[in-house]
Amino acid sequence: MSHFAYQNGELHAEGVPLSRIAAAVGTPVYVYSETALTDAYRRFAGALADAGLDARVCYAMKANSNLAVVRALAACGAGADVVSGGELTRALAAGVDPAEIVFSGVGKTADEMRQAIAAGIGQFNVESIPELDRLSEVAAESSATVNVAVRVNPDVDADTHHKISTGRHHDKFGIEIDRAREVYAHAAALSGITPNAVAVHIGSQLTDLSPFRAAFIRVAALVHDLRADGHEITKLDLGGGLGIEYGHQSPPDPRDYAAIVADTVGDLGCILVFEPGRYLAGPAGVLLTEIIYIKDAETRSFAIVDAAMNDLVRPAMYDAHHEILPVREPGTDDHTHSYDIVGPVCETGDTFATQRDLPALTAGELVVIRDAGAYGAVMASGYNSRPLIAEVLVRGDSYSVVRVRQDIATMLAQESLADWQSE
Ligand code: LLP
Repeated sequence: MSHFAYQNGELHAEGVPLSRIAAAVGTPVYVYSETALTDAYRRFAGALADAGLDARVCYAMKANSNLAVVRALAACGAGADVVSGGELTRALAAGVDPAEIVFSGVGKTADEMRQAIAAGIGQFNVESIPELDRLSEVAAESSATVNVAVRVNPDVDADTHHKISTGRHHDKFGIEIDRAREVYAHAAALSGITPNAVAVHIGSQLTDLSPFRAAFIRVAALVHDLRADGHEITKLDLGGGLGIEYGHQSPPDPRDYAAIVADTVGDLGCILVFEPGRYLAGPAGVLLTEIIYIKDAETRSFAIVDAAMNDLVRPAMYDAHHEILPVREPGTDDHTHSYDIVGPVCETGDTFATQRDLPALTAGELVVIRDAGAYGAVMASGYNSRPLIAEVLVRGDSYSVVRVRQDIATMLAQESLADWQSE
């Protein structure tokens, strides 16, 4: 069930009318449903538990790293998958147990490694031999020993958008699976490193289970080989990637995903780590925006809204489809009209939807762009000197601003003229 539904003629987030949030906080604004977040977590974790798997869910914070969002998931028992010192700081601030934090990414710096070792995180996912060597050096500085998963690249095409497919041999991620045995041998000889896990992540927004199956089968074979080589492999990190509907796709149910996991790696006796991002956060958020003008051109009607590509870049960057709904509930006999929904930024790419059939829209009314809870606010920029927008979390009949709207004065305060310009 969606936690964004019409009640009394108006779209609500849980029990809160979106017009109330717009009036109090202004637009554009991201609105998240806490119940949608926690329900999604329970569906995902519950499917894994029901399949008899010993699973840990480490939320991929890159999807939405707002403190309140991370806190809501941590309160359900989620750990975190972080990819920078910044995300690690946020995870700790949100109350995530350090032992349940996994540090992923191809380019961790020595400083980030130091920070993570000091925090006592549970696992590093390492993606190259130079990174293994660096981590060993950094661990030695503090006489620490860290748990390491080598992220392998299984050469499987995730059949998703090419910019978010990560498991093909020419992608920058992981170590070719055929070289994994020599890399584990290298890792085992290093001090400060315990290579006791294997990690894989083949891409994002997967709507078909067969690439998962193909990748997990290859990982299972590798675990047998590594054990034969004398390595004690106790953990598998199977990454994230489960897709969501975006109003027009048919992604698999988490229970079918869990069945594939059980079928392919369930008998290895490993603790299984999962890193879902989009599945947990995507449907839990909308971007609420007001129509500034309706511009009727000869061949098109443009609804120009106050949100733009700098606030939500997915349509511009990946031609992503997001459903758009008016906040005022359309009547059953309302005629639809075709609109291009565009933002104010000076680029043609600043388009949220093209020739979308919607009930007749008017300037001043509110619309929402759905499924914007993942890879929305986190990917925002200040392009066109547009300040970062506010974020609001709803629970039941209450809402709370969980990030204030940035203002231009704050943006300018971080800049200055060069020394020689102000003389
Ligand atoms: N683990 C690793 C190592 C990842 O690289 C990612 C996503 C995830 C987990 C989480 O994947 P998810 O469950 O969210 O699919 N900005 C793009 C998506 C980039 C995904 C990057 N990695 C978008 O807006 O579609």
